Amino acid sequence: GQPCYILGIESSCDETSVAIVENGRRIVSNVISSQADIHKQFGGVVPEVASRRHVERITQVVEMALQQANLTMERIAAIGVTYGPGLVGALLVGVSAAKSLAYAHDLPVIAVHHIAGHIYSNFLENKKHPPVLALIVSGGHTEIVYMPDLYTYECLGRTRDDAVGEAFDKVARTMGLEYPGGPVIDRLAQKGNPEAVPLPRAFLADDSFDFSFSGLKSAVINVLHNGKQRGESISQEDLAASFQAAVTDVLVEKTAKAVLRTGVRQVVVAGGVAANQGLRASLGKRAQLDGFEVYFPPVALCTDNAAMIAGAAYPLYQKGQFADLSLNAVANIRL
Ligand code: KG4
Ligand code: ZN
Repeated sequence: GQPCYILGIESSCDETSVAIVENGRRIVSNVISSQADIHKQFGGVVPEVASRRHVERITQVVEMALQQANLTMERIAAIGVTYGPGLVGALLVGVSAAKSLAYAHDLPVIAVHHIAGHIYSNFLENKKHPPVLALIVSGGHTEIVYMPDLYTYECLGRTRDDAVGEAFDKVARTMGLEYPGGPVIDRLAQKGNPEAVPLPRAFLADDSFDFSFSGLKSAVINVLHNGKQRGESISQEDLAASFQAAVTDVLVEKTAKAVLRTGVRQVVVAGGVAANQGLRASLGKRAQLDGFEVYFPPVALCTDNAAMIAGAAYPLYQKGQFADLSLNAVANIRL
């Protein structure tokens, strides 16, 4: 039949992104306008600045996505948009844009949960499909989700304090590194000794799939502080490698345990931290040892993008699950 093109919009944090995806699988265009350079000078995302920048960029990013796809709005079947979770002012820009486009072109709007989008980044380009276990590791979220089919999300565990990416960014900041710190730590860690600095691993109770990273973050801050007082200089490479190893040990262990518990042998990873080389290596190794399959999306689809949102909108489109024009942005909402 006719190809179904969904236009996706993502503006939950600091990327303004618009994409067009065909039949929930093929990425026709995926334009990402990042604000990271603007927020760098503040050492983190400033919500007010983010909202304003989204407003300035959104119209042009929509036009670019259509242009790169060589399509006009007449060919679009529906608009998928991230409605939460995220920064409410930032989300509102995407939601408003989606609603006005839908109104102008008489199209349905599909409300997409940001985390569902991250998981869906693994299903684009005919890569994977449910049933899967999804490990979500981003700047705002750390969760293990069991997804038996395209419509069901069962959260097995989540972070009780900091998200993984947040821990990376905070530790990087105390080390005096640039925002966002995750990729910088990743690079330094490749040259460091992961056993140089002993750091805690919070596995919590044996049967829990919950995470906690704030203790680890404090431990790193203490190491830096004590080193300074004693006038010792700690190798940034070694500290980065030791921190990254402590994080990945916990992520790998809990994921392997979730495979055992559920019997689901296909693991997909998503979110910005899925780009991490250390995590890719150690989870890949564990998967081989334990005999399960692990899939990481290409790095460009790990961080926030609208292709994953347009993709995740497709099964909802097929079900006719549409939002109406009263759709609102929601800062905090569970999957
Ligand atoms: O998924 P994402 O783009 O935004 C959220 O939805 O939160 O994730 C951004 C996070 C940031 O904390 C960033 O430092 C982290 O992903 N990140 C990384 C790497 N690349 C991005 N963390 C560790 N290693 C990386 N290579
Ligand atoms: Zn995200």
